[in-house]
Amino acid sequence: MEQLLSALQHKAQVDLVEIRTRPEFEAAKARLVGPNGELTALMKQMGSVPKDQRPAMGKLINETKSLIQADLDAALARVVDSEIAAQVGPAIDVTLPSPDAGPGTRHPLTQVREEMCRILRKVGFAVADGPEVETEYYCFDALNTPADHSARDAQDTFYLPSDADFGNVSKRSPGERYLLRTHTSSVQIRTMLKGAPPIRIVSPGRVYRRDTTDATHSANFHQLECLYVDRNVTVRDLKALLDYIFTSLLGKDTKTRFRPHYFGYTEPSFEVDLSARHLPKVNKEWIEIGGCGMVDPVVFEGVGYDSEVWSGYAFGMGLERLAMLLYGIDDIRYFYQNDLRFLRQFA
Ligand code: DAH
Repeated sequence: MEQLLSALQHKAQVDLVEIRTRPEFEAAKARLVGPNGELTALMKQMGSVPKDQRPAMGKLINETKSLIQADLDAALARVVDSEIAAQVGPAIDVTLPSPDAGPGTRHPLTQVREEMCRILRKVGFAVADGPEVETEYYCFDALNTPADHSARDAQDTFYLPSDADFGNVSKRSPGERYLLRTHTSSVQIRTMLKGAPPIRIVSPGRVYRRDTTDATHSANFHQLECLYVDRNVTVRDLKALLDYIFTSLLGKDTKTRFRPHYFGYTEPSFEVDLSARHLPKVNKEWIEIGGCGMVDPVVFEGVGYDSEVWSGYAFGMGLERLAMLLYGIDDIRYFYQNDLRFLRQFA
């Protein structure tokens, strides 16, 4: 009996070490200590043990039972651990770099913006920057668009609460409001107030409008603004520059045309159309691309330039429009969705 108990305990130890899954564990437990198990069978033989040896034998059985139970507990703990590990999956070190990041590519709008700036730098334009949170003065008033002017309604936009504080953007008067700029033309004023002519700047940037989003509109989009101030600047210079930048960007067959228009800050003012039938997916003869004109003398006087001496032109255009034309994109919303299937086409 003693030997049988010891053999059983030894066998249990060896068998239980092998166990990996819960069904294996349950089967081993039943085989060893279950009602029809091997230990139970040995206990049933107590009846045949001589009376004087029974206490010692009982003690031995209890010892064997608790040794087997300890091995069962350890086996169960291993099974539970491996079940949890299977659920959690392999260990991940979240501080490691992503294995599939791959090389990044520049956004199509970035590419068009950089290319336009490069084209303009070649003819002497410097890149200027301005804030997206503007004051009414820079966005409208200094551009000869007073509060009661109907042209202001067309661009009325997102105003910030009167207690909003943008310490780096200074107000002219305490009652003035902050707003998200509706156009990059505000940078014209900031540039002219900072220094004396001659001036030649290009200012790309994000602008905001109270527009409902659809295939051709977005409440925020990008513009590219140019301002040129010097002596004896004419409409011919303006037209020549626009011809130069559009043929450089879109190809030599691109044509530019002016249509008379109204902007408060230019006189005369024009809307600019492009003809670029050679580009894929262009199915219209003329496509409106921006506005321009000769800087209004009122604007010059407002920034302290002598309008008898200085003349200049300015224009602004939508970068999305330009990119859509160049790449044959038919929905402006693709630019903002960060869908890699779209973005990878411009790699
Ligand atoms: N700011 C105008 C707009 O957003 C575009 C524009 C028109 C810019 C005439 C100019 C300009 O610089 O002279 O619609």
